[in-house]
Amino acid sequence: MPSTRSIEVLATAADLYHAAAEEFVRAARAAIGAQGRFTVALSGGSTPKALYSLLASNYASFAWDRVFLFFGDERHVPPTDAESNYRMVNESLLTKIVIPAANVFRVKAENSDAAAAAADYETQLKTFFELEAGVQNEDFPRFDLILLGIGPDGHTASLFPDSEGLKEKSRLVIANWIEKFKTFRISFTFPVLNNAREVMFMAAGADKADIVHQVLEAKNAPEFPSQRVQPSDGKLLWMLDEAAAAKLTSR
Ligand code: 6PG
Repeated sequence: MPSTRSIEVLATAADLYHAAAEEFVRAARAAIGAQGRFTVALSGGSTPKALYSLLASNYASFAWDRVFLFFGDERHVPPTDAESNYRMVNESLLTKIVIPAANVFRVKAENSDAAAAAADYETQLKTFFELEAGVQNEDFPRFDLILLGIGPDGHTASLFPDSEGLKEKSRLVIANWIEKFKTFRISFTFPVLNNAREVMFMAAGADKADIVHQVLEAKNAPEFPSQRVQPSDGKLLWMLDEAAAAKLTSR
């Protein structure tokens, strides 16, 4: 399947979340139809929360027993912490649907050793995707869908500008030191992001308009981490509201 990039602009943030929920469910139905299961990595931050709430309210009866949920990144905090991506997903989605606990793969970010938490999560991925060491195409998991956001500095997942994690080529999950926050983040690496069947970025609001324009329309070499998300054999979909798309010169 050749790689494609498409940009969808919705009038409002609410329209964006509805369209993103429909795309989530479309991808899930396609994967379950084809393989009997749907593997998805969720993004953190504030933007996707409304999507998760919408999935819980409008798709509560979906075949969640066939859905396997992972996290593209996590803050180095316990699952009860207000900063925790798991907590946000748990409150907006997991507590409102019926999904087997065994289908939810959480980063054990309560572990004070961030590198150990990352290594543990990598093992969870390798076990679930039955990855065989050393066999090329099986070095990296192939998610059906990976959700991503974008920060004003162009970071995505927890791959921030000037961070060591940008250079990682073989590991699946890393503990990435983020100098500006003086903390580690646990994050998927680019090889995992770029091995997905589909990557869906979501961005809403005027404060994202500058970076969205730079990332999608910059003519020079990739400068921002988000620009390096280029699925090698998959679909790249940017879902934007009008405010986030305001500075795009072409759509
Ligand atoms: C995180 C995210 C991160 C997020 C961006 C955008 O854990 O924070 O994975 O990459 O997507 O920072 O965040 P907002 O949606 O809050 O603007």
